[in-house]
Amino acid sequence: MSFEGRDILTTEDLSKEEILEIMNVTAKMEELCRTQHVSDLLADKVAAVLFLEPSTRTRLSFETAIKRLGAKSITVADAKTSSAAKGESLADTARTVEGYVDCIVVRQPVIGGAKEMADAVSIPVLNGGDGAGQHPTQALLDLYTIQKEKGKLGKQKVAMVGDLKFGRTVHSLAYALAPFEPAEYVFCAPDILQMPDDIIGDMADKGIACRKTDAIEEALQADVLYMTRIQKERFQDPAEYESLKGSYILNRALLEKGNKDLTIMHPLPRVDEINTDVDALPNAAYFRQAHNGVFLRMALLAMVMGRA
Ligand code: CP
Repeated sequence: MSFEGRDILTTEDLSKEEILEIMNVTAKMEELCRTQHVSDLLADKVAAVLFLEPSTRTRLSFETAIKRLGAKSITVADAKTSSAAKGESLADTARTVEGYVDCIVVRQPVIGGAKEMADAVSIPVLNGGDGAGQHPTQALLDLYTIQKEKGKLGKQKVAMVGDLKFGRTVHSLAYALAPFEPAEYVFCAPDILQMPDDIIGDMADKGIACRKTDAIEEALQADVLYMTRIQKERFQDPAEYESLKGSYILNRALLEKGNKDLTIMHPLPRVDEINTDVDALPNAAYFRQAHNGVFLRMALLAMVMGRA
């Protein structure tokens, strides 16, 4: 199975075998980091890291992954400092940068924008988040985390809580876990922030039981609880955001009502949806989850550049 030259744009187009291969290579990268601080696997490669929306984890873990593999990077960390601010199209940016590097990692606000770039170039494009669309590298590191925390990927009840409408991480996670036959998806959100109908329809077509609720107590009975932030930046009406913020706040007292083996995840950043009194619990996995992002992104970079 070769990933050389391949774009990673969504999780919908990844097969179970391909995801398992990515998990295997990620585990090897974790081992590599334990035994060898920096490798020279990609020493002759340069990657562009174009972030036209804010990021801490995705950008910095990609940058770390690039450095740990011995590659070099060129970076845009602020849309205002690139010619996107002058109105340059994503396709023109991609065609220009293709002349400089071997691979592009991009985050930008338009759904489908990463595909637009990928269609314009022949080097691999990795989608680091396209607006309220998809965030495939996050979902893959989420799977790696679930595998490590629970010892398996499939046959578990997975609850996703918060902003399921605008939250690209949960869109990608729903598709990424689907081949592993989850026991059930529990989608917990205020009505107007529920999981989009097309995604629920796709899950139903795959035979996955999906339950919609606005009661977090139901979500707490799952095996994996995936909390998300209400995505303030996606609301056109600030008053609507104000009315929805703080809809769900997880704390130790609330967790007393839940499954004792619940694994708590969050793509981060959080605002107030997980109280800091949860952080020290052994099943609070969200910072371990963020750390796994380096290994997963090392794996993807090496695979799409033909070195894994
Ligand atoms: N999880 C995630 O995408 O975080 P950042 O926005 O900080 O990259």
